[in-house]
Amino acid sequence: MFTGELVTLGPIQREYLPHYVEWLNDWEIRRFLAPTLAQPYAIEDEEEWFNHQRQAKNDRHFAILTREQGLLLGNCGLHQIDWSNRNAIFGIFIGDKNRWGKGYGTDATRTLLRFAFEEANLHRIELEVFAFNPRAICSYEKCGFKLEGVRRQALFREGAWHDEHIMAILHDEWIALNRKS
Ligand SMILES: CC(C)(COP(=O)(O)OP(=O)(O)OC[C@H]1O[C@@H](n2cnc3c(N)ncnc32)[C@H](O)[C@@H]1OP(=O)(O)O)[C@@H](O)C(=O)NCCC(=O)NCCS
Repeated sequence: MFTGELVTLGPIQREYLPHYVEWLNDWEIRRFLAPTLAQPYAIEDEEEWFNHQRQAKNDRHFAILTREQGLLLGNCGLHQIDWSNRNAIFGIFIGDKNRWGKGYGTDATRTLLRFAFEEANLHRIELEVFAFNPRAICSYEKCGFKLEGVRRQALFREGAWHDEHIMAILHDEWIALNRKS
């Protein structure tokens, strides 16, 4: 259920937190992440998040690990799970920049979608991605996410306004895609 071709999705371990803090304070990574993270991040913030996510009924977070060696690559998860309407918001980052563009993010996303649709019985997974992040957009399209709309100039970053894309994939679309392959 949690293993893809390149990655395994595992539980977040407390020992991973310093890596997450380092990665989340790296602007090359964080410039692509949500505005709530646009301030320096301390280990205490991460510990608070860690303790909270273990109790949260409507979030599911996973560590992304290499399948072969179990090396920590990043984090992905479902947020704001609405169990009545069976939808959730997807988020991901690969913190090890040397591994970008090598298929890990796409494999982690597909693995999480399999969990979302085939185990958690969700119906719709949605995400937000900045227009200046073509690597992420390409990866999401490969997983079957479709563009649903653009929040024009929704983000002010690095001295300029940027559009934010809303993308989503439905359960039936996931099933159709995976029947073909
Ligand atoms: C976004 C992210 C999760 C993608 O994971 P990844 O492992 O780097 O991506 P993958 O290798 O699986 O797929 C990327 C695809 O984009 C393509 N790509 C890379 N740069 C591109 C560009 N400038 N334009 C178009 N496509 C591009 C790659 O060629 C690849 O497609 P391919 O496998 O068909 O060749 C990862 O790069 C990351 O964590 N980035 C920083 C944080 C972030 O952006 N998080 C998402 C916020 S919404």
